[in-house]
Amino acid sequence: MDKVHVFNAGPCLLPQVVYDKAVEAIKDFKGTGVSLLSISHRTKEWEATMDETRALWKELLHIPDDYETVFLGGGASLQFLYVAMNYLEHKAAYLETGVWAKKALKEAQGLGNAYAIASSADRNYCYIPRGYEIPSDIDYLHITTNNTIYGTEIKEDIDCPVPLIADMSSDILSRPVDVSKYAMIYGGAQKNAGPAGVAFAIIRKDSLGKVSRYLPTMLDYRTHLDKGSMFNTPPVFSIYVMNETLKWVKAMGGVDAIHALDEKKAATLYAEIDRNSLFRGTADARDRSIMNICFVMAEGREELADEFLAFAKERRIVGIKGHRSVGGFRASTYNACTQEDVEALVKAMQDFENLKK
Ligand SMILES: Cc1ncc(COP(=O)(O)O)c(C=O)c1O
Repeated sequence: MDKVHVFNAGPCLLPQVVYDKAVEAIKDFKGTGVSLLSISHRTKEWEATMDETRALWKELLHIPDDYETVFLGGGASLQFLYVAMNYLEHKAAYLETGVWAKKALKEAQGLGNAYAIASSADRNYCYIPRGYEIPSDIDYLHITTNNTIYGTEIKEDIDCPVPLIADMSSDILSRPVDVSKYAMIYGGAQKNAGPAGVAFAIIRKDSLGKVSRYLPTMLDYRTHLDKGSMFNTPPVFSIYVMNETLKWVKAMGGVDAIHALDEKKAATLYAEIDRNSLFRGTADARDRSIMNICFVMAEGREELADEFLAFAKERRIVGIKGHRSVGGFRASTYNACTQEDVEALVKAMQDFENLKK
């Protein structure tokens, strides 16, 4: 079968070697004769996988020693609540850069005083707000570093006078991050870090324990930190696939090497969007994400959108339909997407333009 070029926003493409390893482990986990799907999480073989995953994660992201990561179910959406439960005491500020940021804010507002410090809703979240002042009396500032739906990204680790908490669901492992600038970083794994079913929370240990509310056992990060993410049954399959994905990132040369590839893919596609008379990008140039590349038909050519989707599909290009709140197209060029995939899409755009001239 010809290769399918998968640009799904998440769950998304993972490297072929990861699929192969997952299949092997489902048949026989580490030579135990037991499937990964049936292995007890209390076996030494599983504990070794858990330890290795933690170690790889720490190494690849250069996580300092005063941080610990927990791997949990419930997706990034449950982390919205975890964050507010574990960090909100008096007041928290959220940078409102899209739907996910708003959802995170809503969870905090359900528990206490939380507000949007700045918003880009006025232009349908096509840019990252700047120039806002961060008050010194807030418990934390929450940011969403990559806005998956709108294709905008905060590309630097901002200097923040209060604890900084970031949702990095869709750009973790795509660029070097100075973890020490954050009190906490979380996300769902199902973009660059693995499959759906596991979320990560990288926590500076001394940032916890500052709230007075009752924390239900499962919603208290300390429960999971104390038990190495094994207080209850962990998402075994998802963590295993994450482990293999991290090994692949390491084999590719680590996050810096991956970042160079991601930048090249994004530059290739943005160059075509800017050149091609049929398309235009939707995000402000300086805030363009290197993970989710959003574009629409040029003005006056909107009626061609469905036709282009069908044209691309014939060339085995899938997953490029934009989110309904932006329309048009979104090509998610996560780590496992290759330069060749991007070039196939660029060629389709060029051929479509020639067809419609
Ligand atoms: C930036 C961001 N945050 C949060 C979420 C929600 O993640 P989940 O589906 O794991 O709850 C998504 C999902 O795409 C996302 O892109």
